[in-house]
Amino acid sequence: MQATAVDLSVQLGRLRLANPVVTVSGTCGYGMEYAPYFDLARLGAFTTKAVTPEPRIGNEPDRICEVRAGMLNAIGLANVGLEAFVRDKLPELPKLGCPALVNVAGHSIDDYVKVCRALDPLPGIAGLELNVSCPNVADGLVFGTDPGLLRELVTAVRGVVRRALLIVKLSPNVSDVAAMARAAIEGGAEALSVINTLLGMAIDIDEWRPMLANGTGGLSGPAIKPIAVQMVSRVYRAVARDVGVPIIGMGGVQTWEDAVEFLLAGATAVGVGTALFIDPTTPGKICDGLAAYLQRRGLASVRELVGQLKLGEGGSSARPGPAAG
Ligand SMILES: Cc1cc2nc3c(=O)[nH]c(=O)nc-3n(C[C@H](O)[C@H](O)[C@H](O)COP(=O)(O)O)c2cc1C
Repeated sequence: MQATAVDLSVQLGRLRLANPVVTVSGTCGYGMEYAPYFDLARLGAFTTKAVTPEPRIGNEPDRICEVRAGMLNAIGLANVGLEAFVRDKLPELPKLGCPALVNVAGHSIDDYVKVCRALDPLPGIAGLELNVSCPNVADGLVFGTDPGLLRELVTAVRGVVRRALLIVKLSPNVSDVAAMARAAIEGGAEALSVINTLLGMAIDIDEWRPMLANGTGGLSGPAIKPIAVQMVSRVYRAVARDVGVPIIGMGGVQTWEDAVEFLLAGATAVGVGTALFIDPTTPGKICDGLAAYLQRRGLASVRELVGQLKLGEGGSSARPGPAAG
């Protein structure tokens, strides 16, 4: 039997994806930059770089550095801005051959509302993903680390998004990720991306300076995978499962085995980012591996894996509390 006989399609809220593998924001531009290296029609969905109201040149270099099991980045949301995105990038998205999710960022609630209000009615956008790992200019609080602020933000955006799937991308830099998931859902999130990068630092021991000009950056890649899997499991069990809100699990996915872990933990779809820097064909390999795994186990659909993790009552993902030591 062919590996394609199994059903890889998943339902991400109102959105049907041909398979669960999506690219994550910031790791392959606006799509066309990545197209020469991989047939994007093979993706479940593609996610763009963040779009902000105005163009941003981002942080000073160096703004990327490799670390032992991943990378640090402090790009600083460099992007073309809303106007150029709509004029130059949006018309290209249908050529990708898969649903496009547009990542949105800002430094005030008005920023997010402005971008989402402008993008929502436009064709070619299947979903809007809010990157809430940004400080609010009004009070310096990061949207994604304060539940009240997050609820307020998502509620405001909900008011202007009628067509696209509204996805909120959670920050892992919090003590209780489930509380943030709850706030996002109360605000009107239809899906959650879990997780963004973890705050990190690497130091040049010759210069006695941080490797990144910004000082700190976001850690991604295999180093964060166990943290991401735990957070997906926690969000799924504590909040998302009961209200039927799907999760895009991401953080360090490199192989089909990694994808299976995320699906078992409760993710409906799986994001791939840092791995693309090593091998841009990773999403295709993950789909092939998933199909073969399902066949070996006699399963007809990838959906049969979602949330099937066997976790006793004492499982640390079910509730917060001491998990080690
Ligand atoms: C270079 C780089 C740029 C990123 N830019 C964004 C961004 O603009 N918006 C966003 O929500 N996440 C951004 N991220 C975070 C990723 O989308 C993803 O959540 C994270 O890297 C974990 O997945 P990974 O380990 O597979 O890369 C960026 C990550 C990297 C490595």
